[in-house]
Amino acid sequence: MNHPNLLAPGRIGSMTLRNRILMCPMGDNQATSGGYVTDQQIDYFEARARGGAALLIVGSVGVTAPDGLSSPRQSAIGDDSYTPGWRRLADRVHEHGARVALQLVHNGKNAVEDIIAARPLWVPSLPDEPLQADPLMGMLTPEEANEMGTPAQVKGAAVIFQEMTHEHIADMVAAYVEAVVRAQEAGIDACELHAGHGYLIDNFLSPTTNHRRDEYGGCLENRARFLIEILEAIRARVGPDYPVWCRINGGEVLIDGETLEDACRVAELAEAAGADAVHVSLYANPSMGIGFTEAHATHIPGRFLELGAAVKKRVGIPVITVGRLSPDEAERALADGKADFVAMGRKLLADPDLPNKLAAGAPETVRPCMYHYRCISQIFVRSNVRCAVNAMTGFESTRKIERASVSKRILVVGGGPAGMEAARLGVLRGHQVVLVEAGSRLGGRFVLAAATAEPNAELLAWFEGEMARGGIDVRLDTRFGVESIVDAGFDEIVIATGGRWDRPEIPGADDARVATVDELGAWLAEGRSDSEAGRTFVLLGGDRAGLALATVARARGADVEVLESTEVFAASNGLVGRWRYVHDARESGIRLQGGARVHGIVEEGVRWTDRDGAERVSPADRILVCGGARSDPSLAEALRARDVKLHAIGDCVAVGLVEGAMQTAAEVMLTL
Ligand SMILES: Cc1cc2nc3c(=O)[nH]c(=O)nc-3n(C[C@H](O)[C@H](O)[C@H](O)COP(=O)(O)O)c2cc1C
Ligand code: SF4
Repeated sequence: MNHPNLLAPGRIGSMTLRNRILMCPMGDNQATSGGYVTDQQIDYFEARARGGAALLIVGSVGVTAPDGLSSPRQSAIGDDSYTPGWRRLADRVHEHGARVALQLVHNGKNAVEDIIAARPLWVPSLPDEPLQADPLMGMLTPEEANEMGTPAQVKGAAVIFQEMTHEHIADMVAAYVEAVVRAQEAGIDACELHAGHGYLIDNFLSPTTNHRRDEYGGCLENRARFLIEILEAIRARVGPDYPVWCRINGGEVLIDGETLEDACRVAELAEAAGADAVHVSLYANPSMGIGFTEAHATHIPGRFLELGAAVKKRVGIPVITVGRLSPDEAERALADGKADFVAMGRKLLADPDLPNKLAAGAPETVRPCMYHYRCISQIFVRSNVRCAVNAMTGFESTRKIERASVSKRILVVGGGPAGMEAARLGVLRGHQVVLVEAGSRLGGRFVLAAATAEPNAELLAWFEGEMARGGIDVRLDTRFGVESIVDAGFDEIVIATGGRWDRPEIPGADDARVATVDELGAWLAEGRSDSEAGRTFVLLGGDRAGLALATVARARGADVEVLESTEVFAASNGLVGRWRYVHDARESGIRLQGGARVHGIVEEGVRWTDRDGAERVSPADRILVCGGARSDPSLAEALRARDVKLHAIGDCVAVGLVEGAMQTAAEVMLTL
């Protein structure tokens, strides 16, 4: 599909835009600890400006810094000292023909940094009893739990709520106005008020957090008063021409809160108060693990589209839609008049060049997001943004794909994600690359992953396409051992032969019912919706592969149980994604058993001990070994024993799956 609507120029207020693709506001935690713009941040935004997006919206810029922030390296614009940094960022973005806006925020009841510093949390009204936290949200690896910490338990921390008085409200309105003035002075093209996602303005808008009895609480018009006063004060100060709009929730889900009708009415009021556009997202009960993938960074394709379309029927200003929209869906949404602009987040983390690639008529060259959720989970663990499929994201300053001074002949052994990424980067750097793969197709074990989930299949197709487009000399069905590698005489050798997924060393492991991941190719390729009906599957290992295969078996009608030795399923996913995948598995009827110690395979099935020490036997017609993956450095070690200089990447060094493959390939290939 061509994308004429998506690529057509547009306008928000006085601001002209070269196309309809905006980069979503995404807190990136790349600022300094004081919230000042860093070179890394500028390079990160420059990459997206160069890639062709019309407007980049910097996510969650604190208007009252150091107060009112939720993350340690969140961006800020709390006083004039922030202006030079924003000017540098704006200048760099402008060099590439893009525009830049700041999403202005006070994080309200979610201002974690205020808890840590024992400063009051600004709220419209004192909260009810805290919402019951979903136990699923406690499913964290020890590292994540450590990094997230419990802010209230930091020494000296305190949760103090400050119900805002009229004076506080007036001060806060002024803070937003000053922030806009500073942004304008810095050459920032526009500002978006963050009026969604449970932050301060939204705390006023939502009946779940606003219980005031004065003119700022009660009916929708009252709850919207704070937002409208901010908009009117901004307009009074900067005049009609400076583009300002707000991002609102199209509703709240999993909780009885804001409705779509509320959103439509807020949009009407915002338009009347001078907003130049409205950006329609969604919010969900924040105490639910799936809340973040239900709304906010939705897992559901096109989740917010109809919400934006409903708002659009009520206003004359442009509507910005968002939420897991592919370029084709985005094009259709614009053609159908459901929105005027489409904001994209994760797609531009995965591939900053998406807009240019569409403009070049080459959508197949866009690197797809695999919905792994490293990006947003990094923010949860108070670290900076990264991407599982793009090792440059978050590292733009230090990892640059530049032409090598000497073009070398490079041999890459192994055609899985690590090998393919190494080959791709090698060619981009001007090297001549030969990629040898023992199997009859590219992808390694990722071929199996691709059979379990569409985003994986898209990523595999992209990899294969890149090999062809890069003119890489790929040799399938070619097994290179030590001698052939030595004899071939390449300048550099990259070993990417993957890890091992062996049978566990337990009695009965060679039972005919047992299959390892490597033995599942035909099963994955042949199944139908009911092909496993009436059969019982037990999966050993509940990381992402285990959950994905369990989902396939369940979808084919099997009764499925997953035994995992730790208490964390889908541990290799970012935590937000894990909560989604675990929830979905449970919802589909898969039994997840954490803390399970497997002892052996017996005639009746799998013998194991549960977390309470009780002996159990799970009946099983099929037993899939999905855990116990380990690195396999055998070829690399054999070469080193012959004093051959080499670089080992991917699972053969340490099991890191696609994400590890991308990271290690980049680390090596950018130095050769
Ligand atoms: C890493 C990350 C950080 C985010 N931070 C913010 C934020 O600061 N403000 C905001 O309004 N939304 C934030 N979001 C939500 C996105 O703006 C967007 O609504 C969401 O990712 C859905 O769009 P997508 O499917 O194109 O990624 C964030 C999302 C991600 C992935
Ligand atoms: S980390 Fe995962 S979800 Fe986020 S942009 Fe990258 S591939 Fe997509």
